[in-house]
Amino acid sequence: LVTPGRPVDLAGRRVVVSAGGTREPLDPVRFLGNRSSGRQGVALAQAAQDRGALVTLVAANVGPDVLAGLGPGVDVVPVETGEELRSEVRAAARLADIVVMAAAVADYRPATTADAKLKKTGDATTVTLVETTDVLRELVTDPPRPGQVVVGFAAETGDTEGSVLDHARAKARRKGADLLVMNPVGDGRGFGTTTNEVTVLDADGTVLATAQGTKLEVAHAIWDVTVPVVDGRAD
Ligand code: CTP
Ligand code: CA
Repeated sequence: LVTPGRPVDLAGRRVVVSAGGTREPLDPVRFLGNRSSGRQGVALAQAAQDRGALVTLVAANVGPDVLAGLGPGVDVVPVETGEELRSEVRAAARLADIVVMAAAVADYRPATTADAKLKKTGDATTVTLVETTDVLRELVTDPPRPGQVVVGFAAETGDTEGSVLDHARAKARRKGADLLVMNPVGDGRGFGTTTNEVTVLDADGTVLATAQGTKLEVAHAIWDVTVPVVDGRAD
């Protein structure tokens, strides 16, 4: 599907998008998860395909209702945990011109996963968590294909330490991705909604664009900023 007036400016480009939220198992029936629906990542994958790209979507626990938003032709790789996501993203990224990390990857996972269902003991309990690998950071420091463009996401809230934009600027510099898409969450914004608002920053924390609208409109606005970065890169 080509929207009139929309450029086919990703023709021949290979794009990997991660979407959804990882689940880190505690035992065979329980996990640590998050509320990411995967809608913004699915919209990015769809928008990239509409602009001519060959798209792989690494989908962490994205529901069938959300995946139904994809036209045919997008290669969907389902994953559950952050470690599975890491391995599938890196494998697909070996051929990719652009990798977009829209997934909400758990920062911590249970240190151990029980083989059998955990039983209650009648006492309070604690779960030891260990940090997961930062997939985005690793794509920047150890790119599967050198020269590829890496786009990160940051769901932020303001707090006493600083505004939403302050946090996003600091994260952009810390992560070192070519672009960081910041979306403010909380107060009914972001997770689980059908519309979104984003600010796109470069690795220095400079604001390149802001956009709001449906997740598909926002996806196209993100590609509008990303395509020139890709085109400006020597192959
Ligand atoms: N990310 C990742 N691997 C992780 C955690 C996050 O690849 N283990 C990616 C996300 O996909 C997103 C970006 O990093 O593109 C930012 O995620 P975010 O949670 O906002 O940042 P963190 O660095 O994890 O910082 P914090 O959660 O403390 O704000
Ligand atoms: Ca995080």
